[in-house]
Amino acid sequence: MLKAKNISHSFDYPLFEDISFEIKAKEKIAIIGKSGSGKSTFLHILSTFLKPKSGEVFYNGKNLYSLKEKEFIKIRKKEFGIVFQFHYLFNTFSARENIEAAALLSEREIDEKLLKRLDIFDVLNQNIQTLSGGQQQRVSIARVLTKKPKIIFADEPTGNLDKVNANEVMQILSEYCEKNDAALITVTHDAEISKFFDKVYELKNKRLNIWK
Ligand SMILES: Nc1ncnc2c1ncn2[C@@H]1O[C@H](COP(=O)(O)OP(=O)(O)OP(=O)(O)O)[C@@H](O)[C@H]1O
Ligand SMILES: [Mg+2]
Repeated sequence: MLKAKNISHSFDYPLFEDISFEIKAKEKIAIIGKSGSGKSTFLHILSTFLKPKSGEVFYNGKNLYSLKEKEFIKIRKKEFGIVFQFHYLFNTFSARENIEAAALLSEREIDEKLLKRLDIFDVLNQNIQTLSGGQQQRVSIARVLTKKPKIIFADEPTGNLDKVNANEVMQILSEYCEKNDAALITVTHDAEISKFFDKVYELKNKRLNIWK
């Protein structure tokens, strides 16, 4: 479904070299690694947000960064769902308006049951700025699932959550993938959630190695 070939990238110093990676439908993969190792950067490269210095990313056989603008944007908007490490919710909007924006852009319906399950139903009318960090995190997960993406890229999706909520969020993401033949790539520090993944890789010494 998604294949990265010989990816190298550097900012002020080389982050990784010659990394290849593949994920299939329904597969759930986690990437761990110490802070600053380049996990978020790698996720941005996989998910249309950053063109690597060298190497290619293929989505269903199509070379992502060589696609025409229109098709590229369509994939980002409709097929990929990205939960950013820093949420990038619309701050002047309410929680519900943020989710409505995603529904509108992707031409999907809001799943009210999902909002109940994520335990954000009672805060939907509050302005984003008045929500707790964990509530904002769950709103951003609701926003992404509302798009019904084929691949979910989640950067520390449980970073602000207690154990119970972290488990519930992972459960919801896993079930979503099962039901929709979707794939999940998660960057995480949270060893507790490793049980949800088929594979865990570690980004270390500029390489991606199998960890589990
Ligand atoms: N746009 C950028 N310009 C310059 N340097 C950047 C940019 N984005 C990231 N970096 C640098 O690349 C390195 C890796 O950053 P990245 O955010 O990918 O790490 P990470 O593994 O996700 O860390 P964390 O676990 O703390 O989130 C860092 O040293 C960071 O300063
Ligand atoms: Mg990061």
